[in-house]
Amino acid sequence: MIRFEHVTKRYPDGTTAVEDLSFEVAEGELVTLVGPSGCGKTTTMKMVNRLVEPTSGRILLDGEDIAAADPVALRRRIGYVIQQVGLFPHKTVLENTATVPRLTGTPKARARARAAELLELVGLDPAVYGSRYPEQLSGGQRQRVGVARALAADPPVLLMDEPFGAVDPVVRERLQNEFLALQKTVRKTILLVTHDLEEAVRLGDRIAVYGHGTIEQFARPAEVLAAPANAYVASFVGADRGLRRLAVTPVEAADLAPAQGPAPAGTVSLGASLREALAALLQEDSGRIGVTDPETGALAGVLTPEGVHRALRRADLQGAREA
Ligand SMILES: Nc1ncnc2c1ncn2[C@@H]1O[C@H](COP(=O)(O)OP(=O)(O)O)[C@@H](O)[C@H]1O
Ligand SMILES: [Mg+2]
Repeated sequence: MIRFEHVTKRYPDGTTAVEDLSFEVAEGELVTLVGPSGCGKTTTMKMVNRLVEPTSGRILLDGEDIAAADPVALRRRIGYVIQQVGLFPHKTVLENTATVPRLTGTPKARARARAAELLELVGLDPAVYGSRYPEQLSGGQRQRVGVARALAADPPVLLMDEPFGAVDPVVRERLQNEFLALQKTVRKTILLVTHDLEEAVRLGDRIAVYGHGTIEQFARPAEVLAAPANAYVASFVGADRGLRRLAVTPVEAADLAPAQGPAPAGTVSLGASLREALAALLQEDSGRIGVTDPETGALAGVLTPEGVHRALRRADLQGAREA
């Protein structure tokens, strides 16, 4: 668990990067920090592993003030993934991934076996990519190695600064999905920085929307989209927030009509995002898709455009209630 208490950072040249930040990341929670360039996201993150020291206020990790911790020991508990991944050019992908376990004394064979497992987990076949060098990978593949390397140290906390920044939108969406699936199994406590609202919304259990060195809203994605805390957040999430909300609103049983007649060809599972459902609907001339129970695979009902409308209204009400 990470807790910021009234944290301010002023750099020696007088720049106030963040002012009076207070928020908490629960254990196993993924919080995204989002905001325009220069708003203090990276500074916030670097204070957690003490690459930057706060001017005032304190940061607690599992209830302990990190100012009292040994920085080296602290960083061992905290994985750090940055956009320019910083892989060692003369080490293979497998060696890169096994770096931290090797440094902390894990025997070579065990470190390599674990590294191979993690490469597999981030979607890189170790038999194919393990012996390659970083320059032989695409940007997206390098970023996967960066994520695998951070996970190899098995830190309870991960700091990720624009980890998917350097890849094109299609690859990025795939990486995001894989990363979310991974997080479901590893349940790390994660702070993830992005300047992309879409990414913040898709990945975050909660989002911190930054203004200029301050957090303007700290809430679940659906709530930020449905009920922006102030005019700044409203303009940041923008006029197309209705579209973004499709990505965070799941299809629920209450949105469905009973299935009658022949089953529609297109289907999604209950719990899929409305965006996914809408994409499938657009492919269907009949104007309806089947929605299946993910447990049993049985058809739970059909979804029509009216159902999508109902779901969005439900999300609206929920967002308003939470606000
Ligand atoms: N080492 C530094 N010295 C002086 N100012 C800095 C330093 N690092 C960052 N800043 C300034 O602090 C503010 C916040 O920067 P940063 O945390 O990097 O923002 P972000 O990651 O949101 O783009 C910016 O105005 C930036 O120019
Ligand atoms: Mg930054």
